[in-house]
Amino acid sequence: MTILVTGGAGYIGSHTVVELQNAGYDVVIVDNLANASKKVIGRIEAITGKKVPFYETDIRDREGLNAIFEKEKIDGVIHFAGLKAVGESVEKPWEYYENNISGTLTLVDVMRKHNCKNMIFSSSATVYGDPAFVPITEECPKGVCTNPYGWTKSMLEQVLSDIYRADNEWNVVLLRYFNPIGAHKSGTMGENPNGIPNNLMPYITQVAVGKLPHLNVFGNDYDTPDGTGVRDYIHVVDLALGHVKALKKFEPGSGLNIYNLGTGVGYSVLDIVKNFEEATGVKIPYEIKPRRAGDIATCYSNADKAAKELGWKAQYGIKDMCADSWKWQSQNPNGYDE
Ligand code: NAD
Ligand code: WQD
Repeated sequence: MTILVTGGAGYIGSHTVVELQNAGYDVVIVDNLANASKKVIGRIEAITGKKVPFYETDIRDREGLNAIFEKEKIDGVIHFAGLKAVGESVEKPWEYYENNISGTLTLVDVMRKHNCKNMIFSSSATVYGDPAFVPITEECPKGVCTNPYGWTKSMLEQVLSDIYRADNEWNVVLLRYFNPIGAHKSGTMGENPNGIPNNLMPYITQVAVGKLPHLNVFGNDYDTPDGTGVRDYIHVVDLALGHVKALKKFEPGSGLNIYNLGTGVGYSVLDIVKNFEEATGVKIPYEIKPRRAGDIATCYSNADKAAKELGWKAQYGIKDMCADSWKWQSQNPNGYDE
């Protein structure tokens, strides 16, 4: 089976390509390198010992996509390609709607023209908004997103659901990720944010490596055990393995399926600082700052549905996540840049 991975040079995509190749799938990558380095391709191949065809193509480029589908025999698509920076999406809503939504519409159109109707889509726990209850099951109603990025995920879930309803030959899997962190065990692949990181773990690792002076903790007055925000952090390799398991929903007639991919455990910001220090021996100085706009107090999953239906469960604990994030950052202080 040949899987096209859009955004396969990115953080989650690259780890998923490795696990797909390890599981024996043929993989083709399409990525426009808007937020990735071409060096990732060599790192993937060094880990798996297999070549991976790579197309530097934008998913909004219909002719480019057509050429890929004509050359490669694609059985299904895992669709990661998209812009993902929450703050930037508030500044540039048009760019986010255009890239994420137009790109997906073009991709789906090219897929159906080539009679390829199997799609796994990268969604996010952000579609639950401020969740109606925790732990969050897939039954939890979708909520009000606090930024355009989140709306692109919520809207694309609707678009893909409607496409399935109009044509039941489609198999659509919506995977709602919680907070991916960690890196490949080899320390050769990991998250490579542009500029100052927005997300907690890359910020912590940049403090640890001496690029940033201290962590700013955004609020300690939430209704949580220590007052700081609680999230469900999941190792990126576990997340990647969840995609491999989800391929079973490409069996004809599988229909539309939605799964949370999380660990089911919530950690506060200060829990993460403590676990990082214990896992790595590196001290993380921090300062308490005001709340960040748009943040919620608590978000963690109930991932029982993925366990029951996909046979998938996250294996790595928080110490592994911290140690692996640190291994990547300390071995590659400038990410994929020299
Ligand atoms: P990433 O930025 O590392 O990867 C996305 C990749 O898509 C990048 O390599 C980028 O170059 C590529 N891309 C963007 N627009 C493209 C286009 N028009 N054509 C071709 N390629 C394009 O991000 P990631 O963290 O690996 O996230 C992967 C997916 O998972 C995204 O859709 C993201 O929204 C979603 N997601 C991420 C998180 C997270 O916290 N990292 C959480 C939930 C969902
Ligand atoms: C985690 C916690 C912060 C940075 C985001 C997106 C979400 C999804 C995953 C894509 C929060 C606190 C953070 C810092 C801090 N992405 N924090 N200091 O906000 O849960 O989720 O990434 O779909 O859509 O919104 O992740 O890592 O930014 O924050 O105190 O410098 O860490 O307030 O409590 P978040 P995060």
